[in-house]
Formats: sequence, structure tokens, C-alpha cells
Amino acid sequence: MRHSLMAKSLAVIGLMSVLTSYAEFAHAQSAVPAADLYISDAKRLYERLAGVKVPLDDVRIREIALSLSKGDNLEAARRATEHPSFLNLTVKQMALKLSTREEAINVPFNDFAASFLGVTRDRTDSRELLFGNFFYIADPALAPADKVRSNLVSDILSSNNHYSDLESKNYDLGAVLKRQPMQQIVYATNDKDKMIVEATVNSPDAAGVLTSRSFTSSHLSAGTNRRAVEYTFREFLCLRIEDWADTRASDLRIGRDIDRFPGGDHNKFATTCKGCHTGMDGFRGAFAKWDYTDMPKNIDALKGSPNRGYNADANGVAPKLNQNGTVFPNGYVTIDNSFVNNSNMGTNSSVIEWRGDNITKGNGVKEFGKLVSNTKRFSQCMSKRIFESVCRKTLDLTSQTELAKRYAEEFEKQNYRIKDMYEFISVQPECGLISQRGT
Ligand code: HEC
Repeated sequence: MRHSLMAKSLAVIGLMSVLTSYAEFAHAQSAVPAADLYISDAKRLYERLAGVKVPLDDVRIREIALSLSKGDNLEAARRATEHPSFLNLTVKQMALKLSTREEAINVPFNDFAASFLGVTRDRTDSRELLFGNFFYIADPALAPADKVRSNLVSDILSSNNHYSDLESKNYDLGAVLKRQPMQQIVYATNDKDKMIVEATVNSPDAAGVLTSRSFTSSHLSAGTNRRAVEYTFREFLCLRIEDWADTRASDLRIGRDIDRFPGGDHNKFATTCKGCHTGMDGFRGAFAKWDYTDMPKNIDALKGSPNRGYNADANGVAPKLNQNGTVFPNGYVTIDNSFVNNSNMGTNSSVIEWRGDNITKGNGVKEFGKLVSNTKRFSQCMSKRIFESVCRKTLDLTSQTELAKRYAEEFEKQNYRIKDMYEFISVQPECGLISQRGT
């Protein structure tokens, strides 16, 4: 009796331990097949964020699949953006496209793209790309000067040597870039032997990538500084000049070089020229103290520089702002770097949605960049760029307004972090990277 009871309890204990180990076994077994179901999703997500093919035995694929199997899609995306190619390829290509007039991705790495990568990696507020006083260069401890040309004047500010070396020598850009606090302008003086000595001074109007070498060389060299406004809207608000033209706005700010009677016809001015030029010429004053020849130049920074001077008129503005003044002498004469916002009426006001303390006017590029980056349109445009980069399909801000607004709100909620937004968008159903399983 006693014996059999003991046998029974032994049997129970035995059964319990079998059950426990079976449960463990079953759990371990089920974890593998569950994650296995997500392997192809994981690979797709990983490859799209990294922008490269990855071999199936890459350990991270299994980690990503495991996160997906637990329903933690954002965690999965975060693991995927840890691939160095996320910054070195995916984000770099998006940034390069915005950095030059050609909007090509196959141009050398440059200071504009470096800032973009840095801000993405460091998860800082991307609005600062339009007004922050910083730039990114390689950490000299990681990319020594005997391998990467790194002279601030000759290789960073007056040429692209530093950035093209980093790329051509295959540095892990996302790993070596280091944020520097103050944008610089090259300032030249004579020494006692009348030799030119070049040094740098702090930029008085630093505005993120808008005052980068790449952007200024593309949009402030020659011309009339109008293109800088055109491309700020184009790249950061996803608006082509014809999209925000408004013939009803004031023409008070339109320059003297713009004919009010083209071909003898004032109506032509009123119905075509004025539309583009009212908005563009209104903002153009922001760039009145900027120019580009061989390097970005700011007139206020270069005051008193005897050599690599600057080209400025009596009011301290770039003469090109007032060139061809005889075409229409009653047009606007630029005397300072003030700008006005003529793009806040009708459709423009609802499409752009300006926000901030003063949306009607300001001074200089930094204030211009701040104004632009605080619009709702900026958030929509950045979302569109990220969506198109990772989902590889179009997000049309005019017809897909609901989606654009939802993304913009999410982007702002995430404090304008580009990396977080990449991760968020990559796992949305409409992006199509993750199979939709019955919910
Ligand atoms: C679709 C928009 C648009 C319309 C319409 C337009 N412009 Fe312009 N205009 C621009 C842009 C953008 C620039 C700056 C181009 C650049 O520097 O690359 C510009 C520049 C100019 C310049 C300066 C060129 C230079 O670099 O010296 C003049 C002059 C000019 N426009 C006159 C006119 C006249 C006259 C009309 C009407 C017949 C007109 N524009 C209509 C967009 C427009």
C-alpha cells in the first residue's frame, strides 16, 4: 500500500517533469517555426533598409524574424537599420539627390550629405538641417589626415576633397562622421610679406545644409540667388516653382531685372512672370549676403578681408541682387537681407501651412530655414522622401493627403527624427515590405 502510493507519487513527479520538459521542448520547437515564417519578410525589410542584398545566413535576419514573430515590428526595423549600409547607402542616396542641381544620386559624397547622415544617425531634430549651426567631418582619430585630406580651408570649405576621399577610400561614413559645432567661412589676410594667409571665421548666418558648400555651389554661384529659394522649396517642401506660383500676391519685392512688359505686354508679366517671381523674389533677400565663388562666401563674415574678399555693394549686399537694374528701374532694390513671405495666400497657405511666431517676414538664411522647416509641408515632404526611399513607390502629396498628414503627424511626434521615421514607415502595411497576416 505504502509502496504503491510512493510509486504513484514518483510516477506523478516523473510525469510532471516529462510534461515540463515537453513544454520547454514544445516552446523551443514552436519558436523556431514561428520565426521561420517571418524569414522572408525579415530579409525583405532588412535588404530594403540596408539597400543591399544580404545572405540568408546573416544572423541578423533571424533576429529580425524573431522580432516580427513577436509582433514587435519596430524593433525588427531598428535591427535592420543597424546595418552600416542603411546610412552608407540608403540615406546617402536620398541626401545626395537633394544636394545638387542635377538631383543625381551618383555624385560624390559631400558636406550636405554628411550633415544628413549625421543628423539621421544621431537622431537629432531634422529641422536643424535647415537652420542649425553645425557640420560633419570625419573624426581624425578614425580617418587620419594621411589617408583622408582634411585641411579645413583647402579640403573641406574650398573643395570636396575630404568627403570624396572618405567615400573613395571606403570609410564607413556612418561610423566616422563627427559633428562640429560652428560653420566656418574662409577668410584671407596678407601677412607681412604680402602672402595670402587663409584662415576661417565663424559663419554669421549658418543655416544647416542651406549654407553648405554643396548647396551654395549649386544654387548661389552666378545667377541671382533666386535658385536657392527655388531649390529649398523643391527639396524640402516637395514643391516645384510652378506649384507655388501665385499671380495674386504682391509684386513689390520683384527685382528690377524682371521685365514688367515682356514683349511689350504687361499682361504677360501679370499672368506668368509675377506668379513665380513674387514668392521667390520675396524670399530671395534671405540670401542677399551670400555668394559662391570657389567656396561659400558671406559678406558680413568677410568684411575687412583684404583678399579673398567679397563682392558687395555700398549696402553690403551681393551686387547680383540688383543687377540689370535698368530693365524695370521701379522694381525692388535689395538693401539688406530681409525677406517677406508672399506665399501665404489661398492654396499656398493650405498646402504649406506656415507655423511660428512670425510667418510674414525675417532676415537671413537661418530665419528662412527656420520658417520653411516649421511648416507642415516640410514634415509631409520629408515623410514622402523617406517613404519613396524605403518603399520604392510614389507618395503623391496632392492625392494621398490622408496618408501624408498621418505620416507628418507621426514624424513630428517623433521629434523629426529621420531614422525613426524610416523604421516607422518601413513596417507600415502600405509600404508593402511585411506580409499582412490575418489580424
Ligand atoms: C515657372 C516659374 C517662372 C516664371 C513663370 C518666370 N520665371 Fe523668371 N525665373 C524663375 C527662376 C526659378 C529663376 C532663377 C533661375 C536660376 O537662377 O537658375 C528666374 C530667373 C529670372 C531672371 C534672372 C536670370 C539671371 O540669372 O540673370 C530673369 C531676368 C527672369 N527670371 C525674368 C522672367 C520674366 C521676364 C518672366 C516672364 C516672361 C519670368 N521670368 C517668368 C522662374 C520663373
